[in-house]
Amino acid sequence: MSNRSGNTDKPAESKPRRRKKADFIVVANRLPVDKVINPDGSVDWKRSPGGLVTALEPILRTHTGAWVGWSGIPDADDDPEIDGLQLHAVPLSAQEIAEYYEGFSNATLWPLYHDVLVKPEYHREWWNSYVEVNRRFAEAASKAAAKGAVVWIQDYQLQLVPKMLRMLRPDLKIGFFLHIPFPPVELFMQMPWRTEIVDGLLGADLIGFHLPGGAQNFLILARRLGGHATSKGNVGVRSKFGVVQVGFRSVRVGAFPISIDSAALDAKARSKEIRQRAAEIRSELGSPSKIMLGVDRLDYTKGIDVRLKAIAELLDENRIDADDTVMVQLATPSRERVDSYIQMRGGIERLVGHINGIHGRVGHPVIQYLHKPVARDELIAFFVAADVMLVTPLRDGMNLVAKEYVACRSDLGGALVLSEFTGAAAELRSAYQANPYDLDGVKDAIDAALTQTDDEGRTRMRAMRRQVLMHDVERWAQSFLGVLTDTPDTVADGNRGLRLAP
Ligand code: ADP
Ligand code: G6P
Repeated sequence: MSNRSGNTDKPAESKPRRRKKADFIVVANRLPVDKVINPDGSVDWKRSPGGLVTALEPILRTHTGAWVGWSGIPDADDDPEIDGLQLHAVPLSAQEIAEYYEGFSNATLWPLYHDVLVKPEYHREWWNSYVEVNRRFAEAASKAAAKGAVVWIQDYQLQLVPKMLRMLRPDLKIGFFLHIPFPPVELFMQMPWRTEIVDGLLGADLIGFHLPGGAQNFLILARRLGGHATSKGNVGVRSKFGVVQVGFRSVRVGAFPISIDSAALDAKARSKEIRQRAAEIRSELGSPSKIMLGVDRLDYTKGIDVRLKAIAELLDENRIDADDTVMVQLATPSRERVDSYIQMRGGIERLVGHINGIHGRVGHPVIQYLHKPVARDELIAFFVAADVMLVTPLRDGMNLVAKEYVACRSDLGGALVLSEFTGAAAELRSAYQANPYDLDGVKDAIDAALTQTDDEGRTRMRAMRRQVLMHDVERWAQSFLGVLTDTPDTVADGNRGLRLAP
């Protein structure tokens, strides 16, 4: 898609009259592009935020198909075609954005699935809106799909779609992938509509999680809640490791750790333009001997406060030299009308001000903070420039930023500080890993990364690059789609730690 760099772009065509039905369809809450209406009324399309789009956009370039999703603003029903990809917009009203998206998806499910880092809110109106919008997505997918098509439903916003779609179109192959952690049973049991959600997911033929732990949590729940469902006359569920039997259907459950388009990023990061820009960034920052970098959506799960507090103490203890070190925090605005996000933003900005107030000099703040998305090429140049990458989430399904940093370091320079509570930690064993709840541990990890020898750094980076370059997003998609469509040679690759049905 031509707007990968974060630039805006016009669709090649708007509202084509008759569209061919697609054999492969991605269904996600968001389209890969957001619609932007300019003050003069003209329309642009801009890359939409988050890791889901980063991962799936290259897949839709190699597997032709359609994408069903929301265009990011109220009441928009455009169906543009961009670079041969058919987009089917699902319109949401302003009230549905408040109740289904900001409410149930991001103030109920998001905190519940991320260790209850903030208290999930349970409101019946939000749930009703979630059901209604999931039904609309199922209808849109049903309309777009050719007979026997493969439909791949994505993420927590659409957990009811698999069952709804199966009822409309039993001929389809339906996959579901969850991009965030799936919580332990004890937490999930809080959910007033827990049976409906498990039941909704079990409409799929294959349900994928990042890690075996999430898949196992789901299997335990399916076993427990299946009994309830039977007594209501819905489904009879019998589960064994990796398979849930729903009536006569087998639903397979597995772990498929997502990744990035590593080769494309590696190639881009090697280019002369990016290297030059990386050098300029270092000089614009005052040519410090160490640049630390954070790159995140501004989300309370990302532990931006954790890294700032660790840096503040390291500065206080003179373990970091404020005159010769800069930390850059690039934070994309996210979910800005949800209360917990408003509060968290205030906290982060106070911390940045506090640290700069004590340790900065005029013209030389120690922490440089941007609250805006950064264009893709610029971001890659930051990855190339950074000596230490700080990835400190309190909980994260995978964290693609960690993999992106590694893919950009063909020079074997740099060091990655990585929270143990990210999915990426299972693969990037050579990172400087730390428990984000243990501030001394985080400080020691940052200190070790800042003071590593070149040899140590190269050895660690080489090991991480081997993992990221071999396990790219195409391999992830092949692995999931191979199991979904019963291509046996890919089964073993995708499901580490879980046995699947033959
Ligand atoms: P999440 O999906 O929770 O946002 P990930 O780390 O998995 O987290 O993916 C985030 C994606 O968004 C990555 O591709 C990353 O490069 C991109 N991104 C994050 N922060 C920014 C930013 N400040 N500017 C531009 N892109 C960003
Ligand atoms: C995470 C979620 C995605 C979501 C993205 C951006 O990656 O897993 O489903 O699209 O964050 O969040 P937003 O609320 O802006 O879509």
